[in-house]
Amino acid sequence: MPATLSHINLFFWLYHLFSMLNLKDAALLRHQAFINGVWVSAHPAHTFPVINPATQEPIALVADCAEEETRQAILAAQAALPNWRSKTALYRAQLLLRWRDLILENLDDLAYLLTLEQGKPLTEAKAEIKYGASFIDWFAAEGQRIYGDIIPAQTPGLRLLVTKQPVGVVGAITPWNFPVAMVTRKVAPALAAACTVILKPSEETPLSALALAELAHRAGIPSGVLNVVTGKNPEAIGKTLTESPLVRKLSFTGSTAVGKHLLQQCANTVKKVSLELGGNAPFIVFDDADLDDAVQGAIQSKFRNAGQTCVCANRFFVQKNIYPAFLEKLTESARQLKLGDGCEPNTQIGPLINQKALLKITNLVSDATQKGAKIHTGGNPLTGFFFEPTVLSDITSDMEIYNTEIFGPVAAISVFDTEADVIQRANDTTYGLAAYFYGRDIGRVFRVAEALEYGMVGVNIGVIGTAAAPFGGMKESGIGREGSKYGIDGFLEIKYTCIAGV
Ligand code: SIN
Repeated sequence: MPATLSHINLFFWLYHLFSMLNLKDAALLRHQAFINGVWVSAHPAHTFPVINPATQEPIALVADCAEEETRQAILAAQAALPNWRSKTALYRAQLLLRWRDLILENLDDLAYLLTLEQGKPLTEAKAEIKYGASFIDWFAAEGQRIYGDIIPAQTPGLRLLVTKQPVGVVGAITPWNFPVAMVTRKVAPALAAACTVILKPSEETPLSALALAELAHRAGIPSGVLNVVTGKNPEAIGKTLTESPLVRKLSFTGSTAVGKHLLQQCANTVKKVSLELGGNAPFIVFDDADLDDAVQGAIQSKFRNAGQTCVCANRFFVQKNIYPAFLEKLTESARQLKLGDGCEPNTQIGPLINQKALLKITNLVSDATQKGAKIHTGGNPLTGFFFEPTVLSDITSDMEIYNTEIFGPVAAISVFDTEADVIQRANDTTYGLAAYFYGRDIGRVFRVAEALEYGMVGVNIGVIGTAAAPFGGMKESGIGREGSKYGIDGFLEIKYTCIAGV
């Protein structure tokens, strides 16, 4: 018998009840959009399911909003702006720090929700939430240091002042791979700079963003200052945000293809745009590297979040003398990684986000092996959305895996001979987000770091993200920087005032 609507509703209701039992605070599981301080359903009341990628089971039904709700959120953000910007930076900082405290107090619940909807192991989910909270901490302080200038005039009687003002209403579109940290990395600087925000979280992982909104509300962040619009059609919401003249800034993290599209859509209203897009990170191991360190860094860089980060090592280049030993050790370490449901305590690698991602990785590996790559471990999709941690060698530039952002747990390794050769190969891509290399020759450390055309370079380290440092890319990897003292600039306008006659 086909399931009727009431059967489906009953199933989800029971499922919600079950899920809520696993949360200490059941009110963190929200299903509606958050507009002007109120939880609202879509009009008409359509919903879409959020799927646990480890089990392929639905976790929740979430409001499927589109143009109308996005327009309401824009109006709410615009209306909230004058009051929010009239407050002191200290006042805003105090609310932000309260938000951070509530996030940390609810770490277990937030981590559980994050793992349920995204799949990463609970330990990684907790680390991400702390990382996310650190952006709030950072920007609460940075917002209080938005200094201007007084410029010595070149004409008598004039006073030249430079002040900084909030850009205004911000549209923020965030990805599924870091459902908490990418939200706070955008929302915290925006709010600290006295902007108001409409957040569109990924349709794969809206629950974390909604829980963050609930906590922001509890922290006392005023109605309309942070709005969250969920929906399974990102195009409809994105277009409404980009076309609106009221939205003065768009901040997007996601694929380069979508980033280019949004950039074009923003052209008509000449919005400020920050884009954190795809990467094709080289991971270079020179002969004089500490082998164990290099293998450890490679494992962290490649397999964190099942290889689903924009800064994951994508192309390994290993110098010929160290190549056999590196390959052997990396293979051994990859083989030991425990794959499973992120909610299980020993899991080190969770599933991929969905079936499409699994198919992509399967095809990349198949293309590589058909063109001569050797599999040292892994190489296979498993039941559900899981893919074995995989090490491939003999990678060549004609393989798709060499030219594509992999976004999966596959290490693709090539050998190289000289420094000049590897720099040329590392830079031979349209991407320029992150690059890594291992080696101890101090002269080469500086030469290579300077020659790599990447926004971020890790030397003898495989994970480099911190709230204190500028995150972002060159070339087609993006525009602007997030985090650090630079991360607030994109939310500010510089105003020059010339005073005469006083
Ligand atoms: C990303 O993949 O976009 C973020 C990764 C990070 O901050 O480490």
